[in-house]
Amino acid sequence: MKFFVDTAEVDAIAELNALGMVDGVTTNPSLIAKSGRDILEVTKEICDMVEGPVSAEVTATDADKMIEEGRKLAKIAVNIAVKVPLTWDGLKACKVLSGEGNMVNVTLCFSANQALLAAKAGATFISPFIGRLDDINLDGLELIADIREIYDNYGFDTQILAASIRSANHMSECAKIGADVATAPPAVIKAMANHILTDKGLAAFLADIEKANIKIV
Ligand code: G3P
Repeated sequence: MKFFVDTAEVDAIAELNALGMVDGVTTNPSLIAKSGRDILEVTKEICDMVEGPVSAEVTATDADKMIEEGRKLAKIAVNIAVKVPLTWDGLKACKVLSGEGNMVNVTLCFSANQALLAAKAGATFISPFIGRLDDINLDGLELIADIREIYDNYGFDTQILAASIRSANHMSECAKIGADVATAPPAVIKAMANHILTDKGLAAFLADIEKANIKIV
């Protein structure tokens, strides 16, 4: 499973990138707003930092304007994936922009039917939002499994990009189901390293290191 980082904070991307943990980056208007940076400037900076796809989201809601914005975003760098919402206009924009050779990430997916339409419209990535389904007592991981089954039934190449990931558990569950990509905030990726028994075991080793005065360098 590829790891994308869901942030527009360049320092956080750089830290994970140095460890080989970044196969791509996803941004959205909320993350751009949180960064306080200009969208074109920060997106260019991120594209220069990472080799993989960098999703940059359109702001328009009608297809023609989305296409115009998408073309402008795509000019930022070769690794841009234009992100469009899963609306009927978004699907129209997806069809046109993907037909022009651009990577397109169709976002705000909450149902298997929406994912099926995005694949038919030529999406490179479909972004089902796990956490927001869990928030309303639905099962976000079940949606990932349903989309996996449907895409595999028909050999769609659209990659399942699990989004709205809130916990390390979401990451391992997505990997078990077979999501192609999971995009998570930096804190969630770092939390994957944590285990209570690792902390306990290390504390015991450190106590013995001190007791026996073990030194290597
Ligand atoms: O990738 C989508 C993500 O940014 C949304 O996450 O936690 O706001 O639902 P969240």
